Amino acid sequence: MRYIGNKTQLLQNIEKVIRSHVPDDAKSFCDIFSGTASVARYFKKDFEIYSNDLLYFSYCLQRATIENDDIPTFDKLKEELNIDDPISYFNNMPTDQMESLPQEKRFFQNTYSPVGGRMYMTDSNALRIDYARNVIEEWRNKKILSDNEYYYLVASVVEGVPFISNIAGTYGAYSKKWDPRSSKKFELVELPIVKNGKNNKCYNEDGLELLKHISGDILYIDPPYNSRQYLPNYHVLETAAKYDYPEVRGVTGQRPDNGQKSDFCSKRKVLKAFESLIANANFKHIFLSYSTDGIMQLEDIERIMQKYGKPDSFEVTYISYKRFKSNSNSRITVDLEEMVVYISKEVK
Ligand SMILES: C[S@@+](CC[C@H](N)C(=O)[O-])C[C@H]1O[C@@H](n2cnc3c(N)ncnc32)[C@H](O)[C@@H]1O
Repeated sequence: MRYIGNKTQLLQNIEKVIRSHVPDDAKSFCDIFSGTASVARYFKKDFEIYSNDLLYFSYCLQRATIENDDIPTFDKLKEELNIDDPISYFNNMPTDQMESLPQEKRFFQNTYSPVGGRMYMTDSNALRIDYARNVIEEWRNKKILSDNEYYYLVASVVEGVPFISNIAGTYGAYSKKWDPRSSKKFELVELPIVKNGKNNKCYNEDGLELLKHISGDILYIDPPYNSRQYLPNYHVLETAAKYDYPEVRGVTGQRPDNGQKSDFCSKRKVLKAFESLIANANFKHIFLSYSTDGIMQLEDIERIMQKYGKPDSFEVTYISYKRFKSNSNSRITVDLEEMVVYISKEVK
């Protein structure tokens, strides 16, 4: 999924750094700022995973593929409604057939598409999302879906939305002209699941609070690194996951933030938040991924991590990578650098 700070491109580099510090008998891995869940999903092959994010749509992506250890079988759906595979059921249904959905249940169409005066997606794709989300809620209310099945389907909707969204990267604004992506038909995405047979656990909390209650071997910290809050940039995905008919405002149709603002996006608050995170972390091996032009300076990161780390364990590894940026006329390559900062910690 396109997401600011998504680590999919860097997973193998991150793994190399982690492997160079962590002994083979490490068992658990916590991805405390999980976002798209790409890191948690990747390391699930090797570790019991704990994952977390402030955003609910991220929780759904995690819950679907981390806590679920198999693709759900949808037995009750089959038994009661004769639907074997709900993803193909939604994807193969003609849009005309979805027109039976009452107007007041079409939150996406009434808010994010031209019917609602915005252009995040076409009217027909908005209706396809509305239809799927309404039916998924109805199945859950009728207890035809287990929790695992419910989160799997919600995550399949969320993963599908960016493929048809008329945006230049984030949902901070929609484009005024239709991007070719918008003319594709919206589809739910089937999510692969790595089975590890372990007691994996997902959370939707402030990481600073959560770290007071959990412990383990490896803590991977990938916080926001600039002042762009995530919720305003991904509000449409949050609403696809919650489907809670929020009162949206402004030209861009933002939803209220309900305490989902991150201290890691505030120059004034970030150091205090970072120190509290490191101080409370009950993990033996701590890795921070951070951009070299983030709002925390390396000197501050070093001072804080040295204070809580075992003597001489502090180490910085730089990872260089390329990112493609496109605007309406051209595609350019930008050279970027990310650091992975390590300490080991004495834990009780
Ligand atoms: C750089 S992104 C993580 C990207 C992720 N590693 C990936 O590959 O998709 C940072 C994430 O931290 C989350 N976040 C920010 N502050 C948080 C907090 N206090 N507690 C939990 N999550 C937080 C944001 O919602 C965002 O998803």
